[in-house]
Amino acid sequence: MNFKEITRGVYYAGVNDRVTTLFEGLWPLPYGVSYNSYIVDGGDGLALIDTVRIDEVREFLGNIGRIAPGRKIDWLVVNHMEPDHSGSIPEVVRAYPDIRIVGNSQTISMIKGFYHIDDDGRFLEVKDGDTLDIGGRTLRFYLTPMVHWPETMMTYLEDSRLLFSGDAFGTFGALDGGVVDSEMETDRFFPEMYRYYSNIVGKYGKFVQRALEKLSGLLPLDYICSTHGPVWHDRINEVIALTDRLSSCRPEAGVTIVYGSMYGNTAEVAEVVARELCRLGVRNIRIHNASHSSMSDMISDAFRYEGLIVGSATYSMGLFPPVESFMRAMETREIKGKVFAAFGGYTWAKGSVMAEIGKFSERMNMPVVASMAMRQTLDDASRAEARALAASVASALTLK
Ligand code: FEO
Repeated sequence: MNFKEITRGVYYAGVNDRVTTLFEGLWPLPYGVSYNSYIVDGGDGLALIDTVRIDEVREFLGNIGRIAPGRKIDWLVVNHMEPDHSGSIPEVVRAYPDIRIVGNSQTISMIKGFYHIDDDGRFLEVKDGDTLDIGGRTLRFYLTPMVHWPETMMTYLEDSRLLFSGDAFGTFGALDGGVVDSEMETDRFFPEMYRYYSNIVGKYGKFVQRALEKLSGLLPLDYICSTHGPVWHDRINEVIALTDRLSSCRPEAGVTIVYGSMYGNTAEVAEVVARELCRLGVRNIRIHNASHSSMSDMISDAFRYEGLIVGSATYSMGLFPPVESFMRAMETREIKGKVFAAFGGYTWAKGSVMAEIGKFSERMNMPVVASMAMRQTLDDASRAEARALAASVASALTLK
């Protein structure tokens, strides 16, 4: 294998995973995922930045051995402890017994808890802004808690304007030959970046904003080396702008409709609403049948677009379960700033759906701009109500 030297003395040592179907056991991986790790040659020392999921450890250790044949690895910098990046730490320690592990106090505590590596002399604890000379080149550490776990930090290679960013700026999708964005077509990664951000990091927008603020003094960067997906070089500005937009809940023009329907009646309302939105000029409309769409895609579109309309059949005097799960996912991620509307279908329990939606709306501080309840099937009156709901949403949208 030909290993990629990203820039002088910085090598890609990561691996692709085209086997796992659900990331974190939850999120579909139709195009796989990469677990990125890097080696920095400091001259008189070598530093390894993060590891990979344990399932790929054999390939990973092979990569390290071929990038740096016969050399010892002096430092292992652990930017993030989620096991997709920390899982191979014990095997790296076994392969390089003198290696010292660099992390902050929470990192070290988690390594002891996850992997029972307890020899304190093994660790070098760093604080925000600390530097480490790795044999002639300097790494600087920035603590960026909750991007995505409390211990997360980023590592800056000063002489190359290169940031090892952990999960930040990451995306689903394996690397099909290329590593750096400049050596491949990367448009296909952007939808996956929406999905990755909203699914994995979406709850922690205010922490991502703090991290972006902290890192703003490092701009312009030459390379961003995330733990997932391409190394960013040509498209750094776009990737930072997208992360800024998503983490500050600044949506794009469009409306997401998520509905749940048992026999197709509530589904018909969704179609009427969407048709009317389109007639009124809304150009990005995404409809999800909650029984069939993946939660991952529904969350991604809900993050992305300004309007959110939820429709639910009445089920056991409440929301249809897949719709309720979706609303819980929205609440968990503290989604806000949506033009929010809802419709319900009922046979005898007229107020049930809107009562439940009302509770979510209140807890999420996301007012319902329009609602309607359809009795059993659409008729002329309820069709008109559905169109009126769409008109209310269309006129409330600020992004046209
Ligand atoms: Fe890719 Fe939060 O781990």
